[in-house]
Amino acid sequence: MRPKGADLPRRRAVASLGALSLAACGAFERLPIRAPDAPFVTTKDETVEAMLRLAHVGPADVVYDLGCGDGRIPIMSATRFGARGVGIELDAGLVREARANAAKAGVSDRVTFHVEDLFVTDVRPATVVALFLLPEMMEKLKHSLRQQLRDGARVVSHEFGWGGDWPPDRTTVVGAARIHLWQVRRTT
Ligand SMILES: C[S@@+](CC[C@H](N)C(=O)[O-])C[C@H]1O[C@@H](n2cnc3c(N)ncnc32)[C@H](O)[C@@H]1O
Repeated sequence: MRPKGADLPRRRAVASLGALSLAACGAFERLPIRAPDAPFVTTKDETVEAMLRLAHVGPADVVYDLGCGDGRIPIMSATRFGARGVGIELDAGLVREARANAAKAGVSDRVTFHVEDLFVTDVRPATVVALFLLPEMMEKLKHSLRQQLRDGARVVSHEFGWGGDWPPDRTTVVGAARIHLWQVRRTT
């Protein structure tokens, strides 16, 4: 039999842990969700422009960049092509930087950034999805992109593509970079 009040330190510890997790939820955007699956390596501006041109991005488009880094792809989608941009990024520091870059470029009203794991992102609102990811990430994403994207949506990828079961409609080279384009076609 334990004396009355013996549980107090444990209850206090549980309460502090609870408070800590609540604080963590409040500070959600400041804490890393987990380690990113790829490092932050930027796509050069001339390659970003070529990607958006290849995908025929225009004012009616909603361009998602899965793993958006400093936001350069959604931002250029808005500044040069009049589209709306959505950036998804696991690293909260990069999302802060992307938002600051969007503000500097004067497109905060057309571009949004989310601290989120790209593997759980709902891409149904996208008309264009931009990618610069590692091959194993591309493979893991293929199914949800093919399932969720609407007829006519385009996927544009810097460097990597999918193998024989989803070949690109076009591949082009810009300097040292390769760009691939896929257009989603629904038969039903
Ligand atoms: C190669 S960089 C590309 C950055 C930008 N799209 C560009 O082309 O300049 C890949 C980015 O994906 C992010 N990333 C990696 N794994 C992720 C995940 N599971 N969810 C969201 N972002 C992720 C990294 O933090 C990094 O910023």
